[in-house]
Amino acid sequence: MKPNCRILFSCQKSSFFGFQSVKCHHSLVNHCNSSKFCLNFEHNCQFQATPFRILGFRRVSDDSHIAFRVPMWSFGQSRIISRSYSDGRCRDVSIIASVASKKRVSENNFERIYVQGGVNVKPLVVERIDKDEDIVGAEDKIEAGDEKVSQVDLNEAKAVRLRREQSDNEKEAWKLLRDAVVSYCGSPVGTMAANDPNDKQPLNYDQVFIRDFVPSALAFLLKGEGEIVRNFLLHTLQLQLGKTVDCYSPGQGLMPASFKVRTVPLDGNKIEEVLDPDFGESAIGRVAPVDSGLWWIILLRAYGKITGDYALQERVDVQTGLKMILNLCLTDGFDMFPSLLVTDGSCMIDRRMGIHGHPLEIQALFYSALRCSREMLAVNDGSKNLVRAINNRLSALSFHIREYYWVDMKKINEIYRYKTEEYSTDAINKFNIYPEQIPSWLMDWIPEEGGYLIGNLQPAHMDFRFFTLGNLWSIISSLGTPKQNEAILNLIEAKWDDLVGHMPLKICYPALEYEEWRITTGSDPKNTPWSYHNGGSWPTLLWQFTLACVKMGRSDVARKAVALAEKRLPADHWPEYYDTKTGKFIGKQSRLYQTWTIAGFLASKMLVENPEMASLLFWEEDYELLEICVCALSKSGRKKCSRGAAKSQILV
Ligand code: GLC
Repeated sequence: MKPNCRILFSCQKSSFFGFQSVKCHHSLVNHCNSSKFCLNFEHNCQFQATPFRILGFRRVSDDSHIAFRVPMWSFGQSRIISRSYSDGRCRDVSIIASVASKKRVSENNFERIYVQGGVNVKPLVVERIDKDEDIVGAEDKIEAGDEKVSQVDLNEAKAVRLRREQSDNEKEAWKLLRDAVVSYCGSPVGTMAANDPNDKQPLNYDQVFIRDFVPSALAFLLKGEGEIVRNFLLHTLQLQLGKTVDCYSPGQGLMPASFKVRTVPLDGNKIEEVLDPDFGESAIGRVAPVDSGLWWIILLRAYGKITGDYALQERVDVQTGLKMILNLCLTDGFDMFPSLLVTDGSCMIDRRMGIHGHPLEIQALFYSALRCSREMLAVNDGSKNLVRAINNRLSALSFHIREYYWVDMKKINEIYRYKTEEYSTDAINKFNIYPEQIPSWLMDWIPEEGGYLIGNLQPAHMDFRFFTLGNLWSIISSLGTPKQNEAILNLIEAKWDDLVGHMPLKICYPALEYEEWRITTGSDPKNTPWSYHNGGSWPTLLWQFTLACVKMGRSDVARKAVALAEKRLPADHWPEYYDTKTGKFIGKQSRLYQTWTIAGFLASKMLVENPEMASLLFWEEDYELLEICVCALSKSGRKKCSRGAAKSQILV
């Protein structure tokens, strides 16, 4: 039988007496009976490609009720979305778990699954969030780090926020952010990366990037607008289907870097809307979007925390999607370390910049996503091994980063005096770092107070560059120890002119120059010294800086940075990035009206004014995790095992 494959996620609009009607369906069809056959089918689809993405699936069941996206492994939850056929037409059918408990999904909930038609049908669980009293039960508390913030407090915080008059800059930013909203089948699903009407060559900047949408999502959530975020989370979940690139299928669970809503003309005055994801197969350099799935998890938790709509994360399809990402990240490989091994350009820096291996940014996002997942995963027989794996990984990862990535003056002096070629489990210089590797700029630059986590660690290699995003997320997620987190902020303050200058904040410091630039970037003309990813200044980093400052009780520092940004961003038309050592000029190839610049500014303003809301987005030290690691070390005879011991170790 010839496979019949159709375009993923389509939606038809037709005009009838001036009224527009929208009919949506996931038109992803194949008819195959064995997984072997379907594997071939994936490749066939790729080769028969229409201008749009076509995907194959591994298994499909009967004609009248076709299951798709059946995971290759079993979680005890197989079908998550299905389609039904009536009158020969394919119709969307979402399976939504109706969860009695607002906290967790149990296997028994399968008996209580509702089947609803149409992707735009508002599930029952959503309707409940419109009413305040239903957000969280009166006695329910939301955890904010160590503290408990009651829903009543949050409502008060909202009222405070609404009372303040918005500045003209904020009003303009809100208008621009709303103009950047992308709709699919009549509903908002994301924001495009940049929306400059004068840009004749938008490349892929007219797409919704997963990582770029996060500050937009936070701005909307903090303003009390959850719908766009909910739609984004659910629609991107549908895109997490696996993909074939040159006959190779990357792991299932990979989230795309971005997606675009395309319009396809159909017969009979109709058009079809299609969600067309890019997993890196079109991206410049074919980079893998490793951070997308991690951001998706972080956003899913933020959505629950801020709206109180925990039912979304409890849905069976959402739980399955979450597990698919986690399984992809936690799969065993040849690794010796708990950190994630990735290729160059797999995160915000999505071009060759010498960050392959174990870059800090990915480790910090990985750690944050694991902490989120630990809170959100339904614990049952099908997930208990995964939960155990998450806990073990969290404690091993924090130990690894805290011990081996940390540098301050004392540590650099230690490295400076390292002996090399030590062969033993007791080696001090475990990675065989030659002291000559310490760059001369670092000897002069490192302040007496403060320190930071280095960019990357490999055998015989430490990348001493300061990468801002990774350091900020180490503070936010408590990947670093409380003292280290404090010291990172101290360093940013001490090195304000270098890391903030005229525009917060440098993506990394310092820039690669001369021969190093040529070899490391491959002579990339976009990443010339002090431009773009190579030491450029990115205003979108402001919201994460604000969050880190609020967490550390340093809102004053965040305010200083926000004020600096506000002085220039509106006048400069909200650029993507700035160039030069101090961030003086708008970037050479910088887009204007860059959405995550605009949204990052708005989110920063709201976070700094509402620390109690901000506290929903960060984590405090978790002693249970430390204990796991200290106990594991004690078994190998290296440390004493107890929570007290955990607290007194280097780990704290
Ligand atoms: C650039 C950035 C990347 C961002 C994209 C869209 O490629 O490096 O981080 O997601 O633009 O704004």
